[in-house]
Amino acid sequence: MQDLYVIILAAGQGTRMRSHQKPKVLHSIAGKPMLSRVIETAEQLNPNNINVVVGHEKEQLFEQVHFSVNWVIQDQQLGTGHAVKMALPNIPQEGITLVLYGDVPLIDETTLKNLINTVGENEVAILTDLLEDPSGYGRIIRDEKNHVVKIIEDKDVNSVQRLIKEINTGIYVIPNQYLHQWLNQLNNNNAQQEYYLTDIIALAHEHNVPVKTVPVSKSYLVMGVNDKVQLATLERIYQQEIAKQLMQNGLMLMDPNRFDLRGELIFGRDVIIDVNVIFEGNSVLGNNIHIGANCVLKNVTIHDNVIIQPFSHLEDCEVGDSAKIGPYARLRPKVNLAKEVHIGNFVEVKNSKIGIGSKVNHLTYVGDTTIGKGSNIGAGTITCNYDGVSKHATIIGDDCRIGSGTMLVAPVAVGDRATIGAGSVITRNCPENQLTISRSKQISLASWVRPEKKSQS
Ligand code: UD1
Ligand code: CA
Repeated sequence: MQDLYVIILAAGQGTRMRSHQKPKVLHSIAGKPMLSRVIETAEQLNPNNINVVVGHEKEQLFEQVHFSVNWVIQDQQLGTGHAVKMALPNIPQEGITLVLYGDVPLIDETTLKNLINTVGENEVAILTDLLEDPSGYGRIIRDEKNHVVKIIEDKDVNSVQRLIKEINTGIYVIPNQYLHQWLNQLNNNNAQQEYYLTDIIALAHEHNVPVKTVPVSKSYLVMGVNDKVQLATLERIYQQEIAKQLMQNGLMLMDPNRFDLRGELIFGRDVIIDVNVIFEGNSVLGNNIHIGANCVLKNVTIHDNVIIQPFSHLEDCEVGDSAKIGPYARLRPKVNLAKEVHIGNFVEVKNSKIGIGSKVNHLTYVGDTTIGKGSNIGAGTITCNYDGVSKHATIIGDDCRIGSGTMLVAPVAVGDRATIGAGSVITRNCPENQLTISRSKQISLASWVRPEKKSQS
């Protein structure tokens, strides 16, 4: 195989996105910037180098796209031919170059490998598509022997060429030596007064260099994004593709049209996901899991036999075997739940470890806390972990009963099998096996008379 080089064009302004500051190629598909997607796909081809041609708001790209690529600056956007020329100092005379686009995010490895494998030595290959409505695209012009002779841009076509449905996707493989020769021969005598990369096809024909075409398997692979309607369209197409793959691999989605994966998901058998569930980051699900409607899960590890009820939000946490979560539960980062733990409605847990079979069922905040096994935390309990300056830890042992409405003012520890009376404000450690109560004594006033409204005379 010939040595491969990649040039990704991403210097366009993207004015039609109507974003205030964000460069077009930083807009995301399935949670990842379009440009990052294209670079990752290019990396899968193991090229000698990847060159990204940028112009507008390049600083933001340098900050947010972390790959080992050559950044090439194109200060003025004089056309795709000019953009590729800017990268030539990084392209040697030997080998072949693949041209990609930062705003064509769904191009895949299979399609590109197919294109690269098609091109013989000293040949050019173009990825093409057949479109019912080819308007906007460059048309592939062939001679009577069916050889490709040139590409004519949409803005430059005559009335006959306008009807051609075979279009240029803009993705090509070109031998480096020809790139070096031909890019210097381009002119901008055309409707847009740009240096068109497409004009090198006519030069190939003139120099008797064979031009091969490879049709793309599905149009969405080469669809570009110019505005937010197209961005949302590609997002949906991509999500449907992901959903289809996941279901074919055994995941049960109650409605594949109401499921979003913005990252990676690994799952076992008999996992059922109800509607409007969003996964972000990297998550791992075991076997026999049910996730209710409207849950958001980010970077979670969920073990077998877990039920997550509707409207729960989980982030950076691990949920043990046979646990029950929700509805309306919130697990914040660094939460580790052992098996058979129950977390109920309107319970928030942060940076805490909860032992086997413990239950926190109602309206509670557990933060910076360790809870042993078999303990029950009553409704409305709060671990008061923050003194306004620092966070402090709460430790609760095994088999404890924390009464409803208890305030545990950290740092504080509760011994094994301790019970705390409801409504207590606990500021000192509670010994094991004992009942601790901290509340004002209840009194009743026998002589008290309820005030009554005076009748108006
Ligand atoms: C281009 C092709 C057209 C093809 C279409 C497929 C040319 C002349 N035409 O047209 O045949 O059908 O793609 O989508 O190549 N860019 C730069 N610097 C520039 C100009 C463009 O980096 O100076 C980048 C843009 O950011 C964009 C891409 O190149 O991502 C395509 O440029 P654009 O001018 O939009 O070309 P199209 O009109 O889409
Ligand atoms: Ca375009």
